[in-house]
Amino acid sequence: FLLIGRDNACEKTSYMFLRKELPVRLANTMREVNLLPDNLLNRPSEGTNALRDRSWCSCADHVENVSVPEECHSHLCFLDVLIKVRNRHNDVVPTMAQGVIEYKEKYGFDPFVSSNIQYFLDRFYTNRISFRMLINQHTLLFGGDINPAHPKHIGSIDPNCDVAEVVKDAYETAKMLCEQYYTVAPDLEVEEFNAKAPNKPIQVVYVPSHLFHMLFELFKNSMRATVELHEGKKEACPSIKTLVTLGKEDLSIKISDQGGGVPLRKIDRLFNYMYSTAPRPSLEPSRAVPL
Ligand SMILES: Nc1ncnc2c1ncn2[C@@H]1O[C@H](COP(=O)(O)OP(=O)(O)OP(=O)(O)O)[C@@H](O)[C@H]1O
Ligand SMILES: [Mg+2]
Repeated sequence: FLLIGRDNACEKTSYMFLRKELPVRLANTMREVNLLPDNLLNRPSEGTNALRDRSWCSCADHVENVSVPEECHSHLCFLDVLIKVRNRHNDVVPTMAQGVIEYKEKYGFDPFVSSNIQYFLDRFYTNRISFRMLINQHTLLFGGDINPAHPKHIGSIDPNCDVAEVVKDAYETAKMLCEQYYTVAPDLEVEEFNAKAPNKPIQVVYVPSHLFHMLFELFKNSMRATVELHEGKKEACPSIKTLVTLGKEDLSIKISDQGGGVPLRKIDRLFNYMYSTAPRPSLEPSRAVPL
């Protein structure tokens, strides 16, 4: 990405690459849709119907649309198609989640179905991230607008992403939601340990929005656990501690809270899409539960 995007980025090369790459990736995802349980594909309720339509129709549209530029030579036309494809699928994640929740409510939990959904969604979301990353790099690099807030970014990539800054941003955003819902929020303590360049801030080549997203989810979890455990107690809520370390090979971010933790017995379930102890979310923003 950096090599393609840095100097003299060539729009035609990127266009030729994406024209082939995007439909192939979509076709692979479409094949895997068959792994979803029949109940989700054939006898769908409203949400799961959307899940199937999203998966099938949206993929078909993608392939169709991405092939269009063969006849339309203008690069602007290709850009336009990419932007439309991307925007049309902005709400795929909540729609998918709604489909899974409805499925669970109607048919209960089945380990076999759950492992198929797990396999499909892991690959579907990973594919979606890379697919959107490819589109975003093209539209950001060749869309004609230099991002005034971040002129040094290469597309969506920050070559000097300051990790602690992103940690603080994500914390502040989660804090806002937490205060809105519970009226209080734990404080944040950030510590950095840079083994490669002692006492220098830890920087990394990364997509800040991706890092933000991950941290934001973790902070929301920590805040909910901490506030709910300490609700009604006299003492202030204990802070959430974050340690960012850079070793010889890896960068790690450790977030710890005093929210009571997750029983070892339940740890395996955490990465299961069908598991949550949070209240059922609503798609209507006015009724949504923030954490
Ligand atoms: N820091 C934490 N302390 C205690 N329990 C946690 C923590 N993080 C996660 N959990 C538990 O793990 C469950 C799953 O977390 P996950 O973030 O996947 O979903 P969620 O928070 O329930 O819903 P959402 O999709 O809105 O994030 C939570 O419902 C909570 O019970
Ligand atoms: Mg969560």
